[in-house]
Amino acid sequence: MSDQTDPDRWWQGGVFYQIYPRSYADSNGDGIGDLPGIISKLDHLARLGVVGVWISPVTCSPNRDWGYDVSDYCDVDPSFGTLEDLDTLVREAGTRGIRILMDLVPNHTSDQHAWFVDALSGRDARHRDYYVWADPKADGSPPNNWVSIFGGPAWKFHEPSGQFYLHNFEAGQPDLNWWNEDVHREFDEIIRFWWDRGVAGFRIDVCNMMIKDKELRDNPPATEDDPIEQQFMGVRYVYNSDRPEAHDILKRWRSISDSYRPPRLLIGETNVDTLEKLAEFYGAGRDELHGGFNFQFMAAPFEAATLRAVVEGTEALLPPGAWPTWHGSNHDFSRLATRWAGGEPAKVKLALLVLLTLRGTPFLYQGDEIGQVDGILTKEQLLDPVGLRFYPYAGRDQARTPMVWHGGEGGGFTEPGVTPWLPLADPTACNVADQEGDPSSVLEFCRRAIAVRTARDDLAIGDYRSLETPESTWAYVRGEGATVLLNMGDEPVTFEGVGGTVALATDHGLEGSNIEGALTLGPWIGAVVVR
Ligand code: NOJ
Repeated sequence: MSDQTDPDRWWQGGVFYQIYPRSYADSNGDGIGDLPGIISKLDHLARLGVVGVWISPVTCSPNRDWGYDVSDYCDVDPSFGTLEDLDTLVREAGTRGIRILMDLVPNHTSDQHAWFVDALSGRDARHRDYYVWADPKADGSPPNNWVSIFGGPAWKFHEPSGQFYLHNFEAGQPDLNWWNEDVHREFDEIIRFWWDRGVAGFRIDVCNMMIKDKELRDNPPATEDDPIEQQFMGVRYVYNSDRPEAHDILKRWRSISDSYRPPRLLIGETNVDTLEKLAEFYGAGRDELHGGFNFQFMAAPFEAATLRAVVEGTEALLPPGAWPTWHGSNHDFSRLATRWAGGEPAKVKLALLVLLTLRGTPFLYQGDEIGQVDGILTKEQLLDPVGLRFYPYAGRDQARTPMVWHGGEGGGFTEPGVTPWLPLADPTACNVADQEGDPSSVLEFCRRAIAVRTARDDLAIGDYRSLETPESTWAYVRGEGATVLLNMGDEPVTFEGVGGTVALATDHGLEGSNIEGALTLGPWIGAVVVR
């Protein structure tokens, strides 16, 4: 068990929340969410009971990849507001006990970043070696067989200088060269710039990919044992990703983090294909990331045996002192309300119960707290480069449609009559206002779950131990006195050997009941019993 009272570990027992700023709240009627919009919703977040918020990039960007192509790391994009708005957000959140994490994008910049504009000016340019350049092969083809995560070759030819540059994502997102010490120094400064302003830490974009094989060796062909994306691309990511040197970069940032009080938080987008690789990002427990996103968990089907196996595997593999994180949605994947719950509120509540009662820090994605489902878009409405390239694969816009605050025109996201940047769902179908005060709603369940977790050390920071239970169920003990019982099947199930009080249940009517020896839960119902 960790220590809840240690101010340096403020984040461990709490719940975090991801905001995709373009889609949260539009304060100025331009159809785009912004920082003043987020500030106007801080009371919603405080009532929810979260302790931290990760905001997807608000730094300057020409939006080829919606903020993940940064043209200035130390300023706010005017579409979101100003640096002063960011300072206000940090301050106002702080008065409500909420800390702000920003998104750091170190794998690549925008092609409009001043470093890259300079790099294009010639082979001798001061910033040329900030990026990964290589000569063509003798026949003029790209230097190696690497493919972009977003499709097509990972190299773009620059005619005037006769070399290719590397882009693991869009061509407008040139990869940085992390073999160059100047790049390290630049990022040390960028990191300090935000941390000195009171930003509590970073979510680090594709942190497993930052550094590539120094010799730029060809990747081997994919086999049927490789992850499906790599099979689709035809190559196994060996030399363009997951290089051991990425850990050295993160350790350097951890030592900067440790020089702050409280230490600034490093949460990695560790989208790796095994739990073993995820565990490596924790270093020796306290010298690398504080937390790495667990994509095995998020990508698993909502089945008791599968999720339980991922959780047990994670518990077994993380080094001593390391702390898991859990998420079921983010801005890149279908939302949990659709993917795990098929839009059924009862299953959404069960999914939230899992996320909010495991050992580790949960990250809710905006809209999870009301069971918001994926948006539905026509091809003409797509704005995500991935969706546009791989249509009819839905891409990522479906997870990025605006947050729905009330059932009126504009959904409370924007003013009536304004066209949001991505289409708003029918606001009457699912929104915050309609769920307020209804104890059976997803929102009120989510609030109660966070409150129960916050009030009980067992649930916030206690150890995890699986119990043996029937098929299609999952049960575990947290700490000394909290037992989580989940019926993830279509038939009622009786859990034997349980005693205490139901502190929380996805079926509100069960809460407060005393249990002696056995508890029967209906299909897709979960409960927390405390002693
Ligand atoms: C992961 C981010 O979450 C995603 O939105 C982005 O497109 C890629 N990294 C590239 O930055």
